[in-house]
Amino acid sequence: MIKKIHHVGIVVESLASACRFWRDALGLPLVRQAEIADQGVRAALLAAGDSEIELLEPTRADTGVARFLAKHGEGLHHVCFETPDVDADLGTLKAQNVALLDQTPRQGLAGRIAFLHPSACGGVLVELATPPHHDVPADSPVGFKRLVIGCHDPQDMAKSYRQLFGLPEVAVNDGPRSMLGWSGGGTLLMVPAVEVGGALGMAALSMVAPEMAPLVQRLQKVDAVMFSGASEITLKPEAANNVHVHISRYHFP
Ligand code: CO
Repeated sequence: MIKKIHHVGIVVESLASACRFWRDALGLPLVRQAEIADQGVRAALLAAGDSEIELLEPTRADTGVARFLAKHGEGLHHVCFETPDVDADLGTLKAQNVALLDQTPRQGLAGRIAFLHPSACGGVLVELATPPHHDVPADSPVGFKRLVIGCHDPQDMAKSYRQLFGLPEVAVNDGPRSMLGWSGGGTLLMVPAVEVGGALGMAALSMVAPEMAPLVQRLQKVDAVMFSGASEITLKPEAANNVHVHISRYHFP
């Protein structure tokens, strides 16, 4: 059912200032932006290789996004899987008594969407989306590669994601980690929480870029670089809405 990781959602205090980092400094092209009044958010989707980054700013205090911001501050909020038929998939999950936040799909920025309850996915908030047919991926200087998730038991977590979403397993060599997904469609890397400072849930974002030099220049201008080498950049989380981002050099096929 699931084709790829469609986007990773990040909650921010100000969409305008977050766009100055993700769109202008990192260089991710804007796909779509809108204020969704009934959900109380102002949101933007930015292209990142075969996936996207979604920025969400709450516009009211009585929404899940606003409560997340008040409780945790800015940061990684949810991961969205793309499916050709969100209605059918939600029906299947419902028949399995999987805990859902949306009993029926609704219109969101990414298309027809529905959220599962985080308790169904090891504490991670998962969205399913069937995007509009006319969406075509835009060229971007930085692409999404993987989302790192901290958990108690990566093998167990991977097993439940395989069962829920049919995500294929990608071979990993080093010990207790587990990786699910697609080489072209993004992966989820499940690691023991101790590897990510004890964090449970979404912990970091790995991205790839074919050209590092112009990117480093743009990122240095906004003081976002924590470390940069010939083939990698680590960003300062405080410059990236509290998201841990690592970018490595990679030639797009
Ligand atoms: Co989303």
